[in-house]
Amino acid sequence: MDCIQKDSIMVANQARPTDWIDRRPDKEEWDNPELLQYENQVDPYPMFAQKRAEEPISYDEDRDVYDVYTYDETVEILSDWKRFSSFMTHGMDGHLMDRDPPEHPPLRSMAKDRLQPGDVRDMRPEIEQRADDLLDEALADGREFDFVEEIAVPLPVGVIADILGVPQEKRDTFRKWSYQLTSTPPVDADEETKEQMQNERIQASLSLNEFFGTELEKREENPQDDLITNMLQVEQETDMLSRSQTKANCSMLLAAGNVTTTSFMTNALWTYAEEGLISDIQSGEIDLAEANEEVLRYRSSVTEVRRIATEDTELRGVEIPKGSKVIVYLNSANRDETVFEDPDLFRPDRPNLSKAIPFGRGIHFCAGAPLARMEAKIVLGKFLERIDDVELLEDTITPILSAAVYGPAELPIRVSM
Ligand code: HEM
Repeated sequence: MDCIQKDSIMVANQARPTDWIDRRPDKEEWDNPELLQYENQVDPYPMFAQKRAEEPISYDEDRDVYDVYTYDETVEILSDWKRFSSFMTHGMDGHLMDRDPPEHPPLRSMAKDRLQPGDVRDMRPEIEQRADDLLDEALADGREFDFVEEIAVPLPVGVIADILGVPQEKRDTFRKWSYQLTSTPPVDADEETKEQMQNERIQASLSLNEFFGTELEKREENPQDDLITNMLQVEQETDMLSRSQTKANCSMLLAAGNVTTTSFMTNALWTYAEEGLISDIQSGEIDLAEANEEVLRYRSSVTEVRRIATEDTELRGVEIPKGSKVIVYLNSANRDETVFEDPDLFRPDRPNLSKAIPFGRGIHFCAGAPLARMEAKIVLGKFLERIDDVELLEDTITPILSAAVYGPAELPIRVSM
């Protein structure tokens, strides 16, 4: 907590945006029905390419949303929080991603304090051990298994559980809640499925609330060296967070820290197998860290990022009125042909790879990027060391059903050793 300035937190609750808040939407109004068509959940890239060519900034009257598909405008929006606010874009009060300055920086320090590159380096031995244990188990079970189920889910869930300070036994429940929180039914799903997914999301949110409520009470009696205790300290020592807001931040971190990283690892293995690159990575001809960076561009895990225009503004000649909802699509920006040559080719040696924006841009740039990169490098490195080759057992993926996260829900593979 040392680096959280109490004064800045006291200031944080004072200034609030005013005249455009009334237009804040509920979640349903944001979701892009085209992206939620099943075929676009499997492969959104043809749709994104068409949008960039034909209507790079497109207004959808039904949702009252401006959908932004191009790189330059995405960077412009994410870099300018004064003009494009995050305030209540996920409808979660007190949620770090739903706040602008002056509230945002102290909330961010609270999360980031445990995710600095030094902290992440300190976590390496435990993450390596966790990866070894998971691989021992998966490879002992046989040559065919689901990479998502056996490796890509349990690793990040276990790591974020450690950071938050919750018991490992909760891993499976955490996994279920995180997926339920981030899932969105496809538009072509039947009413029963839509209702079920909606109910599961509400139930997951209530369960997380209750779970973190209990954990916070335990920390009041018995503080620990963990992120839940950090958040409790902010709540107790400042007027920044109510109890329900503290719980919202715990839930956000849990979901932010695992579903995205699971997709990253899965997208990586899927791509390496599909592109026939396994042996080049094993031999070192292709550097794994560079290949992973290209995966983040080529198949970005996070699809949409939301903002609200705080003033009448204009992008590419399109007028955007104050209070409008705006969504940028990171997977589309990262395939923008005006920035990345042959964007649909997977090329780890891309000269301008550092321009990719899988972790966003500006003040909300992902606080967990160093951790996600390290987790993926450790687990994929160890996995590829231990096997000869990987074969994908299905030609097409079964996608995660989500407006926010892109990747396979399962990745059945056969390994040879
Ligand atoms: C490959 C994996 C990941 C991807 C692609 C990803 C992507 C993103 C993106 C795009 C944002 C910006 C959202 C916005 O601008 O509104 C973000 C924010 C954030 N991410 Fe990640 N993330 C990943 C992993 C993680 C991990 C492992 C953690 C934590 C353990 C984490 C914690 C956060 C937090 C706390 C924020 C909010 C930052 C803020 O509002 O200042 N992320 N992430």
